[in-house]
Amino acid sequence: MVMKSPLWGAELDHIRLDSEQPDRRVAFYRDAFGMAAVDLGDGDTLLQGAGRRLLIGRGAAGAQPYSGFRLPDEVALEAYRGHLAGRGLNLMPSPSPLFADGAFAVADPDGRQMVFGLPRDDVPTASPAGKAAGLPGRLQHVVVATADLAAMVAFYQETLGFVPTDHVLRDEADGGQTLTAVFYRSTPEHHSFAIFLSDGARPDHHAYEVTCWNDIRDWADHMADLHIKLWWGPGRHGPGNNLFFMVEDPDGYKVEISAELENMADGDPVRQWPHSERSLNLWGPGWMRT
Ligand SMILES: [Fe+2]
Repeated sequence: MVMKSPLWGAELDHIRLDSEQPDRRVAFYRDAFGMAAVDLGDGDTLLQGAGRRLLIGRGAAGAQPYSGFRLPDEVALEAYRGHLAGRGLNLMPSPSPLFADGAFAVADPDGRQMVFGLPRDDVPTASPAGKAAGLPGRLQHVVVATADLAAMVAFYQETLGFVPTDHVLRDEADGGQTLTAVFYRSTPEHHSFAIFLSDGARPDHHAYEVTCWNDIRDWADHMADLHIKLWWGPGRHGPGNNLFFMVEDPDGYKVEISAELENMADGDPVRQWPHSERSLNLWGPGWMRT
């Protein structure tokens, strides 16, 4: 029998984005991604649509200070809290207004917070308007970049319990190999979180999962209506085997539309991919972080 990670079943619920010009960023996600904007009254804005929501506030340009992962239920959340406390981790109050009492946060080696909790049921709701409101797109994964991948792997894998699905490895002149990316899952879906080696700690991108390839067409046509150019793709990733394209938000942060993300079986071993454009995009050019 395969032992399940105590994190198993956790899904990405929301992320927080900060900006020096939050109104501009709010307008972008409202219009481009079909989300209704709700003023939470403290300078923060909730963007929400079908299966997707995020928070936008005032802060450093392009920052993504925390990600909120939703545990399956209270029993799982309390078991996970106990697991992390038992490992000596500093559990901090949740910074997220979208999670109920009982949520908590931890800081990763780069200072970014991961928040674990259950959705509160008294969050203000609003219905998005416009064509994109009807397009499917479930918030599915978030990705960060780091200059210290070893420390991040130790934290996310060994301490938090994310399950590694795929490794990307760069061949070095001395015959060795350098790990340049790790894709992590917390459900059967190929990844809910990933880390790329880069020259510094920064947000990388987040993704909305759609139901089929035709949805990618419809999202791309919608972006065209708004004169938003595709920044990368359409293409097909090696790790995850998903179809995708990306656009840039007004702060230069990348946002992905993805379809047909691979599902993994329990106990599947970690696979290895070469550090190459082809691994990142089987169809064409790759976005190389290093
Ligand atoms: Fe992605």
